[in-house]
Amino acid sequence: MQIENPLLEEALRAIEKSLDEVTLEALRVEYTGKKGRITEKLKKLGSLPPEERRQEGEVINLMKKRVFAAISARKEVLVAEAIKIQLDAERIDVTLPGRGKAQGGLHPISLTIERISSIFLSAGYEVAEGPEIEDEYHNFEALNIPQHHPARAMHDTFYLSSGEVLRTHTSPVQIRVMENAAPPLKIICPGRVYRCDSDLTHTPMFHQVEGLLIDEQANFASLKGTIEDFLHSYFEKELPVRFRPSYFPFTEPSAEVDMACANCSGKGCRICSNSGWLEIMGCGMVHPKVLEMSGIDTNRFNGFAFGMGVERLAMLRYGVGDLRTYFENDLRFLSQFVG
Ligand code: DAH
Repeated sequence: MQIENPLLEEALRAIEKSLDEVTLEALRVEYTGKKGRITEKLKKLGSLPPEERRQEGEVINLMKKRVFAAISARKEVLVAEAIKIQLDAERIDVTLPGRGKAQGGLHPISLTIERISSIFLSAGYEVAEGPEIEDEYHNFEALNIPQHHPARAMHDTFYLSSGEVLRTHTSPVQIRVMENAAPPLKIICPGRVYRCDSDLTHTPMFHQVEGLLIDEQANFASLKGTIEDFLHSYFEKELPVRFRPSYFPFTEPSAEVDMACANCSGKGCRICSNSGWLEIMGCGMVHPKVLEMSGIDTNRFNGFAFGMGVERLAMLRYGVGDLRTYFENDLRFLSQFVG
């Protein structure tokens, strides 16, 4: 039934204009609540003559129905609008590129240890590790450096109150391996070492890689070949290598290894103090006394050993002149070595 009623029209217009559910509820009360303006009309029905009363009653009920219908239709629109606004506000574009994450990387000293290790691993060596707090026996005595041996003075040892020491080199690891495993042995021992020494070219903590081979036919020629092959792989250059006679208590004969300067290829520069040569490591045939003390049968076995400083090898490979930069942990320096 079509009804034209100014009150109904006013109500419908107000509903149409409302912007939220609170207003809608207020309108419902205003027009159709217990004391609502349309409801009030019902109360006046009694005073009408019976035939008009029926007709007017129907009109009023219809008005109420139209108001309810308009309110619920408007409610639906408002809810849909609210959802749309929320969806728009929370929209995520999954096709956008991700926020860049800075890639971390290994410290250049770790990279160098990994590089040295992988060269020896491919030659059949295994990696062995030992304690950084070491007893004097393994750090000195078993390496043929007895109590008053002058070599002890060169080690600038940190002594602990327990009587132990911070290991001054990685050589004690070769002793621990020989004590615990049967030859033939082919190991390298990378790790931190400590000496009470600090200046431009020394830090109290630094890194070494020790190497040890024990078998039935180790000799100086195989030691030379091993070290030459290693240096050529490490520097990716076939630079000349020379062995200078030297002295270490735990090897006999002993040698120091020089390599033509990787920076100037032997011509002479600041890095090699114009000599054209760089001192790279110490090495030698393991002293029979050392083998015997660790329970190796010297009638059957002999071996060679070598020891190198990791910081030095890292400096030469990366062309970094200042040792301290490795320990200052300046990200601008470290991030250059990612990869
Ligand atoms: N342990 C020695 C040092 O710290 C380095 C070294 C020299 C190790 C000769 C060796 C070797 O195994 O044969 O100075």
